[in-house]
Amino acid sequence: MREDGDIAKPAILFLCLGNICRSPLAEGAARAAFARAGIDVRLDSAGTGDWHVGHPPDDRAQAEARRRGIDISGLRARQLSADDFYDFDLILAADEANLRDARAIRPADATADLRLMLDLLPGRGGEGVTDPYYGRDDGFAATWDDVSAVAAALVAEFSSNG
Ligand code: 4NP
Repeated sequence: MREDGDIAKPAILFLCLGNICRSPLAEGAARAAFARAGIDVRLDSAGTGDWHVGHPPDDRAQAEARRRGIDISGLRARQLSADDFYDFDLILAADEANLRDARAIRPADATADLRLMLDLLPGRGGEGVTDPYYGRDDGFAATWDDVSAVAAALVAEFSSNG
């Protein structure tokens, strides 16, 4: 549930499948970008699946974040819930499958806007952030590049909104 102090604070949830690779990297990138910009927001991440609930981010995701100067080791995976559609203003899904799964549990009177992460980037609308979980380790660098561009776009949007 929202706390009283959070009412005016924008809240953004990053969503992927396992909540151990793409969405924790997106959360880490956004935390750093909003902090640098001095903008107070509430950020979180979740997965549509429940296999990794309670687990820290994948070691390869932690290593990629560390290479970029960001520590995501304290994050713990959780599963998306119907409440998230009231608790957040914006839910950003990594790919179409995440979007479809999220729509399946979205309450009819949900207040959160639900979009793809890459819809925020000019020319990338409709694209998914490639899932690096089953791929080569260097897939995590590409994931970082995508999610950090999304984080920068979010900061720009929230800066221009005052
Ligand atoms: P993520 O990657 O959705 O970016 O966290 C995955 C993590 C775990 C699994 C699939 C994707 N898995 O099947 O366990």
